[in-house]
Amino acid sequence: MAKTSYEKPDYWAARAQKEGYPARSVYKLSELIEKFPLLPRDLSRCRALDLGAAPGSWSLFLLRRLAGRGFLAAADLAPLSRQYDRGLFDGENFFFLQGDLAAPETRQALAGHGPYNLLISDAAPATTGNRQVDTLRSLALAEEALLYAETVLEPGGGMVVKVFQGGDTAGLLRRIRKLFGSGKSFKPAACRAGSFETYYVGLGKKQGSAGNGR
Ligand SMILES: C[S@@+](CC[C@H](N)C(=O)[O-])C[C@H]1O[C@@H](n2cnc3c(N)ncnc32)[C@H](O)[C@@H]1O
Repeated sequence: MAKTSYEKPDYWAARAQKEGYPARSVYKLSELIEKFPLLPRDLSRCRALDLGAAPGSWSLFLLRRLAGRGFLAAADLAPLSRQYDRGLFDGENFFFLQGDLAAPETRQALAGHGPYNLLISDAAPATTGNRQVDTLRSLALAEEALLYAETVLEPGGGMVVKVFQGGDTAGLLRRIRKLFGSGKSFKPAACRAGSFETYYVGLGKKQGSAGNGR
C-alpha cells in the first residue's frame, strides 16, 4: 500500500527545513501543544523550561509562539544550532545553559530562573542499539525531569516528558499521576515509524505535592 506523505521517512525533516527548524522533533511538540492545554492562555504568563533542548527546535517553536512574551529556560549537553533562530536565542526572555541536566550546578542555575508553569523534556540518551540499555538510560533522564517538575514547577503547571517504552515506564507514569491531576501517554504522528519513544503528559500539578512516592 502506498504511504501517505507524512509517513514517508523524509517528510517531517523536509518540512522542518522548509519552516526553519533544525529538527523534525518540532512537530511532536506542536502536536502535543495542540492536543493538551499546556500553554497558559495569557502567553505573557508562560514560564517554560526545556530540558534536552538541542539542537533547539522545541525552544525555537516556543519562542516564536511567545513572540517576546513570557520566559523560556533551556538546557542541553550540546549547544543550540543558530541556523534558524534569527536572534531569538539572544532575546531577554530566553536563557540557555550548556550542561548535564542531572548535575547539581545545572539544577541550581535553572531553579534560579524559576519557578516555571511548563516543563518540556525531549532529553534522550545517545542510543547504543541495545534496547535494554537505551530504555534504562531514557528512564533515568525522564526521572531527572520529574525531579525538576517536583521542585521547580508551580502548582497547576504542566509537563511533557519523553520516554523509551519498556522497563519501568509504568512506575514513572504512576509517579506523574501522583504529582499531577492527570497523567497520560501520547505518541505524536511525527515519531519515527517503529520508534519506541512516547511522551507522558502531566497536567495540573497538585498543590503541595512533592510527588516522591513511587
Ligand atoms: C532528541 S534530542 C532533543 C531535540 C530537541 N527537542 C529539539 O527539538 O531540537 C535529545 C537531546 O537530549 C540531550 N541530552 C541527553 N542527555 C542529557 C543530559 N544528561 N543533560 C542534558 N541534555 C541531555 C542530548 O544532548 C540531545 O540534544
